[in-house]
Amino acid sequence: MLRTHTCGELSIKNEGQHVSLCGWVHKSRDLGGMTFIDLRDRYGITQLAFNMEVNTTICETARSLGREFVLKITGVVAERSNKNLKIPTGEVEIIVSEIEVLNKSITPPFTIEDNTDGGEELRMKYRYLDLRRNVVKQNLLLRHKTAFEVRNYLNLQDFIEVETPVLIKSTPEGARDFVVPSRMNPGEFYALPQSPQTFKQLLMIAGFDRYFQLVKCFRDEDLRADRQPEFTQIDCEMSFITQEDILNTFEGLAKHLLKNIKGVETKEFPRITYADAMKYYGNDKPDIRFEMKFVELNHIVKEKGFKVFDDAELVIGICAKGCAEYSRKQLDELTEFVKKPQIGASGLVYLRYNTDGTLKSSVDKFYDESELKKWSEALNAKPGDLILVLAGKKEKTQKALSELRLEMGTRLGYRNPEVFAPLWVVDFPLLEWDEETNRFYAKHHPFTSPKPEDIPLIDKSPADVRANAYDLVINGVEIGGGSIRIFDKDLQNRMLRLLGFSEEDAQAQFGFLMNAFQFGAPPHGGIALGFDRLCALLGGSDSIRDYIAFPKNNSGRDMMIDSPSKISDAQLKELNIKVNIEVPKVS
Ligand code: AMO
Repeated sequence: MLRTHTCGELSIKNEGQHVSLCGWVHKSRDLGGMTFIDLRDRYGITQLAFNMEVNTTICETARSLGREFVLKITGVVAERSNKNLKIPTGEVEIIVSEIEVLNKSITPPFTIEDNTDGGEELRMKYRYLDLRRNVVKQNLLLRHKTAFEVRNYLNLQDFIEVETPVLIKSTPEGARDFVVPSRMNPGEFYALPQSPQTFKQLLMIAGFDRYFQLVKCFRDEDLRADRQPEFTQIDCEMSFITQEDILNTFEGLAKHLLKNIKGVETKEFPRITYADAMKYYGNDKPDIRFEMKFVELNHIVKEKGFKVFDDAELVIGICAKGCAEYSRKQLDELTEFVKKPQIGASGLVYLRYNTDGTLKSSVDKFYDESELKKWSEALNAKPGDLILVLAGKKEKTQKALSELRLEMGTRLGYRNPEVFAPLWVVDFPLLEWDEETNRFYAKHHPFTSPKPEDIPLIDKSPADVRANAYDLVINGVEIGGGSIRIFDKDLQNRMLRLLGFSEEDAQAQFGFLMNAFQFGAPPHGGIALGFDRLCALLGGSDSIRDYIAFPKNNSGRDMMIDSPSKISDAQLKELNIKVNIEVPKVS
């Protein structure tokens, strides 16, 4: 080894020892008689000291070193006169007797500091330098620790990790596939897996009983802070279980991670049906770190002459504790917020329950105090509270109030990232109607089992059929989703028919799975947790990009290796692909 210690290791206990360290020049300070260098490696920072009077040659060498040069140094550990108690090595420095420059560095395009001067794009282009920054490095260490704890927990529960192929055939999970042309099969394509869904089911048929895999999945969808085109799932499947067993097993995993990574003990996770999540939070991934539940006001506010409410399908409100004193400006801001196109409300009605007990609303013309009293009672408001009401089409209004609820939660400091509020959302509908294509889609995926008691509804009223499907939600983030699967050929066939597959299409796409069902498929079910989302949540961030070593930007590009990129004509020819794309002109 080139070094005896790391840069994060030495303390006053090592005083007087001869040591060798390797690392990067983080910072240097030339104070005339003395030169100091902070030497950095993965483990920390150690100060190197050079005294002009004691060793002029080495001091001059030290002065000539630039930022990010790679060094090997040898010297003696000494107590520092000017201690830095904020870092573990801050009580000592190395009086350096030998320097070896292992490599030079050109000046980095941004500072390698927690608060860097580099913008997002530059940092992505030089991601290997970004990864030298402590904050980003810590994120990857957290990711490693989380993966380790996941494997630890699942291994102890008898799960085995099995790798499934990456070059597969499209599995319909709602997003577009990334495809790969096959040279040996001209005109044919593999698809990269959106998830290993069908493979893990086949592993159950093979008798593996408890499978897991930390696996890369690929989805060609619009990107956001919590979505990347390639991401990692903790993918799991179990046989001979009920939904209850799955919820308990993975509640156990989530508790294990919260305890071992964050030191947080959590109580039993509450469960809420999809229908109630929509009714009380307008959202199938509610943030329950705070209450502020929706209250329907239709029966109280209608037929009082206020057309907006009279015409509305749904009138709902929330109560913001202690906000009655909001200024006109703050209320205007909230109105602007709900009117933003992405939120889509036409306006906001408010009711102040003043501390002196009076009630003042933005619609006083239509509602006197006795009417407003009914609103405040319905919302369980107390003097000092502010009631915010939206009205309109049901789904749109629920969605808009959900956004307003989250905004109020943020404003009121209820969304502390160090507080964890997990829950299960259960009883999702099996199907979802799509107005555009005029057909049903599977809400989760086509292999999800309907609730046995709802099977008779499949033909009569498909929209009412509930699925044995569930999501794990923490702090308003969908961390995972899964279901109990269909394991009967005929039911699977019926389901595919409902989703608009012809007999031939169903056979061509999923014949392999339905055939397998005939060879003694056990009852089975599973779940997949978004590993990047889980890491971001544990790290207290909204952006999964910070927890991926080499992420893509919002256009799906890797700025560092400049991908995707064109391929040569020769390669195209070999693949039998003719490219004839007109790139749309940007006006
Ligand atoms: P689902 O599609 O719900 O289920 O995905 C499971 C979890 O994966 C995460 N996730 C993503 N994370 C980052 N970027 C993305 N683009 C992205 N898409 C999804 C989410 C999500 O909850 N095969 C089923 C699971 C099953 O039924 O067992 C599946 O993939 O956290």
